[in-house]
Amino acid sequence: MPESITITDNRSGTSIEIPIENGGIDAAEWRRFLPGVWFCDPGLATTAATTSSITELDGDNGVLRYRGYPIEQLAEQSSFLEVAYLLVHGELPTRAQHDEWVYEITHHTFVHDNFRKRIYDAFHYDAHPMGLLTSGVAALSTFYPEAKEIENPKIRMEQIVRLIAKMPTLAAAAYRHSQGQPYVFPDNLLGYPENFLNMMYRMGGEYEIHPVLGKAMEILLILHADHEQNCSTTAARVVGSSHADPYTSVAAACAALYGPRHGGANEAVINMLDEIGDYSDVDSFMKTVKSGENRLMGFGHRVYKNYDPRAKIIKKSAYDVFEVTGKNPRLDLALKIEEIATNDSYFIDRRLYPNVDFYSGLIYQSMGFPTEMFTVLFAIGRTPGWLAHWNEMMEQGSRIARPRQLYTGPEMRDFVPLSER
Ligand code: ACO
Repeated sequence: MPESITITDNRSGTSIEIPIENGGIDAAEWRRFLPGVWFCDPGLATTAATTSSITELDGDNGVLRYRGYPIEQLAEQSSFLEVAYLLVHGELPTRAQHDEWVYEITHHTFVHDNFRKRIYDAFHYDAHPMGLLTSGVAALSTFYPEAKEIENPKIRMEQIVRLIAKMPTLAAAAYRHSQGQPYVFPDNLLGYPENFLNMMYRMGGEYEIHPVLGKAMEILLILHADHEQNCSTTAARVVGSSHADPYTSVAAACAALYGPRHGGANEAVINMLDEIGDYSDVDSFMKTVKSGENRLMGFGHRVYKNYDPRAKIIKKSAYDVFEVTGKNPRLDLALKIEEIATNDSYFIDRRLYPNVDFYSGLIYQSMGFPTEMFTVLFAIGRTPGWLAHWNEMMEQGSRIARPRQLYTGPEMRDFVPLSER
């Protein structure tokens, strides 16, 4: 059977055969054959916006691989910075490459003092930390004007290192600002997740990081590191396609991540569990979900029509964390919701399963993070993914993102002066 599709234009009776390559067809062939006839694809649900060799996601079978490596193996055996290298460079680093990468990232964690004095301090004390982070990342672009030289691979890589290095610094500073606490400088002697936790929580003398919590943080960062053409990565690519610098593109990604349908869902899960309140109220809440009155946050995914493999790993990690911190009281509510949903035809028929955000919020909360910080944590983890895709797009030489529309407004009509309306 030929690996192709045939399209016939019934107006003229002409046909074209287009080969199927890598599971898709070349839209340029369609455009040439049917000029002025556009796909109407809200949410780009049927559109492959690019080819990419970074992350493979098989939503039907619950498979996630970075550069070919299964997420389960990476979460178990790798470190976040090693995974960041893999995403950005395409291969696992040798020992020498690894050590140089870690050294470079560790030595680019500081931000200019004007950040603290002029940028972050200008925000209200109760500003949402995602607002600070998004603005902070955009502001970084003004500190590194050379970043505009996006055609230069060496300069691109310097900004990639800076961004991965500085995200935890900006994120922790956003939290300390909201608490009215002085900022903590990065500590070059600590690993990446430990340095972040230290900048978050250190209050005077030494801040002891429990190894189980450090490991859980590392796993959560790895699980969030990439997820192919998701909403925030697409935002980064769209902005990057206009040849804006990488800080501006990543700020766009942060803005997209902020929303409750995307990275804001982990915060929304905790709010939802708090709203349900009591174990005995879960059943009535689930009825409101089925009637369309409420949406079950942390459930459902555009691509996964099976259990999100990240949710499985996080659920296991949650139990490890609770051994140290004590059980999060919302866990029982979450488990009951999952049990009802996995046995109810509403969720089964729509193939709605827990996604990465369903259990991550419970861990974050038990580790002492306020809910407003959850999406910020996601942003730290996703930064290497955003940058790997941005860099791949630059290497590929992309066109500017500029979709079409099907116009449904009024026909041409003459202007009526205000006095005559
Ligand atoms: N609760 C209840 N019903 C749902 C849910 C949900 N969480 N998600 C989807 N559905 C239902 C829809 O109502 C729809 O039902 P219908 O066919 O009767 O109209 C059907 O399932 C299909 O849903 P869509 O909204 O068309 O799915 P889409 O792919 O557009 O949306 C999304 C995916 C945004 C993730 C959605 O499932 C959702 O809002 N989930 C809750 C928010 C969430 O957890 N987001 C995090 C996603 S993971 C991430 O971004 C890191």
